[in-house]
Amino acid sequence: MSAVDVQGVYKVFGHKADAAVEMLRQGRARDEVAEATNTVPAVIDASFSIERGEIFVVMGLSGSGKSTLVRCLNLMHPPTAGTVSIDGRDLMSLSAQELRRMRAEKISMVFQHFGLFPHRTVLENAGWGLEVRKVDLVERNRRAAEALELVGLKGWESSYPGELSGGMQQRVGLARALATDADVLLMDEAFSALDPLIRSEMQEQLVSLQQDLQKTIVFITHDLNEAMFLGDRIAIMKDGRIVQIGTTEDILQAPADDYVRSFVQDVDRSRVLTAGSVMEEPLAKILVREGPKAALRHMRERQTSGLLVVDKKRRLVGAALDDDVIAAIQRGEHSLDSIVSTGVATVSPETPLADCLIPSAESRLPLAVVEDGKLLGVIPRVTLLTALGRPNGNSEDGAAASSAAAEDTPATDDTTGTEV
Ligand SMILES: Nc1ncnc2c1ncn2[C@@H]1O[C@H](COP(=O)(O)OP(=O)(O)O)[C@@H](O)[C@H]1O
Ligand SMILES: [Mg+2]
Repeated sequence: MSAVDVQGVYKVFGHKADAAVEMLRQGRARDEVAEATNTVPAVIDASFSIERGEIFVVMGLSGSGKSTLVRCLNLMHPPTAGTVSIDGRDLMSLSAQELRRMRAEKISMVFQHFGLFPHRTVLENAGWGLEVRKVDLVERNRRAAEALELVGLKGWESSYPGELSGGMQQRVGLARALATDADVLLMDEAFSALDPLIRSEMQEQLVSLQQDLQKTIVFITHDLNEAMFLGDRIAIMKDGRIVQIGTTEDILQAPADDYVRSFVQDVDRSRVLTAGSVMEEPLAKILVREGPKAALRHMRERQTSGLLVVDKKRRLVGAALDDDVIAAIQRGEHSLDSIVSTGVATVSPETPLADCLIPSAESRLPLAVVEDGKLLGVIPRVTLLTALGRPNGNSEDGAAASSAAAEDTPATDDTTGTEV
C-alpha cells in the first residue's frame, strides 16, 4: 500500500468546474476550456503513488499548479474530480471529524513563509501543531523540544522568532511539522526564501533527517538543482499537467519534452550525478589469493598497469601496481600481501561527480566506488569526463557526444579498467 495515492485528480477553480473537467476529459485544450467555462484548470488529471519513506518532488514554473496539487493532498483544496488516498484511505470518503484527525495525525504542512507567531517562543511555535490537537502542555513541550533538537535548535527554545535568522526560522517551521509526528510532510517551497548557502544546508539536513525518520515527503520547488538533490523521484508540472515523473537519472537521460529539456539544460551535472550513477563494472580486479603471477597475466590481458585487489566477499583490499608485481615475482613471492598498497582512491556511490574530479586526477587507477567496504564499481577518468561533458542526456549534442566517445574507444571493455 502506498503512503500517498493520487488517481485522476483535477482541481478547477470557478463555478463551472465540473463542466470544465468534462471538457478536459474529452481532450479539449486547457486554454479553450478555461475560456469557455470561465474557470482556472489548475491541476489536470494527476496520477501518482508515493511510497513510504520517499521524497517526492513536484517542480515546474510558477503557475504550473504545484501548490494547488499539494493542497489537494490534504484536501485544503478538495479535488474537483479524482481520488486522494493516504495509507489506503480515500480522503473524500472520510467524515469531517475523521478528516480532521487524519490531517492532525498523518499530514503536516511546512510553508515557505514559516508561519511562525512572533510573540510566542521558539518552543511554543514548535509545539503549535500539537496545541491544535489539544496535546497537554508537558507532552507538547517535550515533543517540541525533541523536534527542535532534531533540527539543530537545542538551546533556542525560549528565544523569539525575531531573534532567529531566516534559516533558523525555517528550522522552527520544520520542527513544528516533525513534532506532530505526522507520517506525511507536505513542503511547499519550504526553502525558497532562504539564501543559497543556508538553503543547501537545509537540504542536507532534510535528507539526513529523512534517513533517520523515514517520513514520506512531498516537496515542492521551482529549482531543479534542489529537486534533484532532494527527490527520490520528481514530477514535472506544466500548465496543470504532470508531464514527466522519474528519477533524476531518468529525467536527465530522457527528458519527456522540450519543456523538461529546458529545465535540464541549466543543471550542474557535476552536482547532480553521483558516482553510483556512472560507475562501471570493475574489469581490472583480482582476488587477493590469486598471487603475483596471476596479477601479471590479468594486467597483460587487460592492458592495464594496475589492478584493484579484492577478497572473496568483494571487499576492497587495495591495489597492485605493475612494478611491484614484477618485483614480487622476481623475489619469488607467491602472495600479493607484501605489495598490496592501500592508498586506493575511493568514493561512495552517493559522492557527487564534482567531488570525484580531484581524487580521480590524483589516482593512477580508476576511482573505486565502495560501500561498506565492498567494491561496487569503478569510474575510469574517461567515464567521469564523458559524464560531465554531456550537457544534456537526450539532446542532439548529447547523443553526438556519447556516440563520439564510444567511437573513440572501440574496445570499451579493455579500456574500462585501464589507467587513463
Ligand atoms: N484559489 C484560487 N482561485 C483561483 N485560481 C487559483 C487559485 N489558486 C491558484 N489559482 C490559479 O491556479 C494556477 C496554478 O497555481 P498554483 O497552484 O499556485 O501554481 P504554482 O504553485 O505552481 O505556482 C494559477 O493559474 C493560479 O493563478
Ligand atoms: Mg506555489
